[in-house]
Amino acid sequence: MATPHINAQPGDFAETVLMPGDPLRAKMIAETFLEDAKLVTTVRNVFGYTGTYQGKRLSVMAHGMGIPSASIYTTELIKDYGVKNIIRIGSCGAVTPDIKLRELFVAMGASTDSKVNRMRFNDHDYAAIADYGLLRAVVDTAAEQGKPVTVGNVFSADLFYGVQPNMLEVLDKMQVKVIEMELAGIYSVAAQYGARAVGILTVSDIIPTGEATSAEERQTTFRDMMEVALAAAIK
Ligand code: ADE
Repeated sequence: MATPHINAQPGDFAETVLMPGDPLRAKMIAETFLEDAKLVTTVRNVFGYTGTYQGKRLSVMAHGMGIPSASIYTTELIKDYGVKNIIRIGSCGAVTPDIKLRELFVAMGASTDSKVNRMRFNDHDYAAIADYGLLRAVVDTAAEQGKPVTVGNVFSADLFYGVQPNMLEVLDKMQVKVIEMELAGIYSVAAQYGARAVGILTVSDIIPTGEATSAEERQTTFRDMMEVALAAAIK
């Protein structure tokens, strides 16, 4: 029973899937953090793995870049493979230097310039939000691990290059402090098909100053984010 974009067998995915953007990152996560990880899907080199973490079954699979790609993979995982929980682990750019590089940001809601939610919602403005239980598990886990997090509204942009000149000011004023590219799609897909989703992001760049994390810093922040995501995933 393959779908157009996933060639796993029924039952191959755990109920919870950790989703980075990058397929090679999914491979690295499976090899580093999961036990007995098996490759379950390979279509377009978007690798997905299922193994165990502290004895609990857990999957990891990439969602690619942008709302269309992330929507395809999350829809098929939920609708066709019975996945119940999606935890996006990604990066974001800060719209203001008030947010610091390497911070962990948990997306309570996701605003967007994409039209996908208006297409779903009779042209009205759908509030794409994280599942409260998962959000709480992530925030509680971070607190237990002594890791500070900011919880708030993110902006899921369709354009990586060419954000409107005054957009950063508008976002800042409306308390939307970081930009990423998928969560407004993922949260709505989860709602539409009856699953739960949350996104944990590390701040990889400060958009107005162009400041960005070094490769070494990215490793450390990535590990911090993974420790929170893995512990929250098995709660
Ligand atoms: N992800 C990380 N940095 C980003 C940025 N500046 N814009 C959109 N998505 C991002």
